[in-house]
Amino acid sequence: AASLVESAKKAAAFQAVDEHLLPEHRFVGIGSGSTVVYVVDAIVAKGPEFYGPMTFIPTGSQSKGLIRAAGLNLSNLDERPVVDGKSVPLDVAFDGADEVDEDLNLIKGGGACLFQEKLVAIAAKKFIAVADYRKQSPRLCTKWLTIPIEVLPLSAPDVLTRLQAMGSPKPAIRSGLPSKAGECVTDNGMWIIDAPFPPLLLPKDLSPSEEGDGKNAGKWEVSRLAQELLKVPGIVEIGLFHGFNGNQAVSLGQVGQAQKP
Ligand code: A5P
Repeated sequence: AASLVESAKKAAAFQAVDEHLLPEHRFVGIGSGSTVVYVVDAIVAKGPEFYGPMTFIPTGSQSKGLIRAAGLNLSNLDERPVVDGKSVPLDVAFDGADEVDEDLNLIKGGGACLFQEKLVAIAAKKFIAVADYRKQSPRLCTKWLTIPIEVLPLSAPDVLTRLQAMGSPKPAIRSGLPSKAGECVTDNGMWIIDAPFPPLLLPKDLSPSEEGDGKNAGKWEVSRLAQELLKVPGIVEIGLFHGFNGNQAVSLGQVGQAQKP
């Protein structure tokens, strides 16, 4: 099963790069996680004539290492050229995901890189989520049960209390790897809280009369939850990616396509 998953990740990555990375692109975002490793492989496979004129923007230290090890041109979000007073947008950004719903909303942050991932995603004209078949789900928080939330460490106790008041049964501060005692510290010196929520609703699940009572009592619609979470002092960013609408695409590697690249 492990190798099927790996070939599905690889299939999704090669397909995404073939479809969405164009020769005229100059600034390209590279996300974090195990699937993005195959995205970088797919870019390298295109050859130096293709990727040589491009500059790659990482979403954290793992991502930076991947770009550097592959010999791609590395820059950073705050080092892009400024034209007419504005930083140039990235042409496209590729990133993994932990769960993808039927409206292409995502949960991200399983690897604790969500903050820079979101900055890179919104700086890009087009955001491509690359995910294997396991990540697909009708509603977020169905398969990946928690929303990763990046917080200022000092605020963690109060944020936990606020999350419980918002209906998250047992939000928990993520701990480090077994080899590292204590909390998981992000690339930005913050902590991660994993907050479980009941499966999130889509706008189409809600009729006005159902909001707040009836069968949807206690459940959140994706964009409303995102808005409310971002209002909590101490929360610096959340692993809910939504509202990318027209500029978002998802490449899902299916089992059947696993051998394709
Ligand atoms: C990192 O914080 C995450 O958002 C990753 O993009 C996500 O966890 C996907 O990782 P995999 O490709 O390893 O599943």
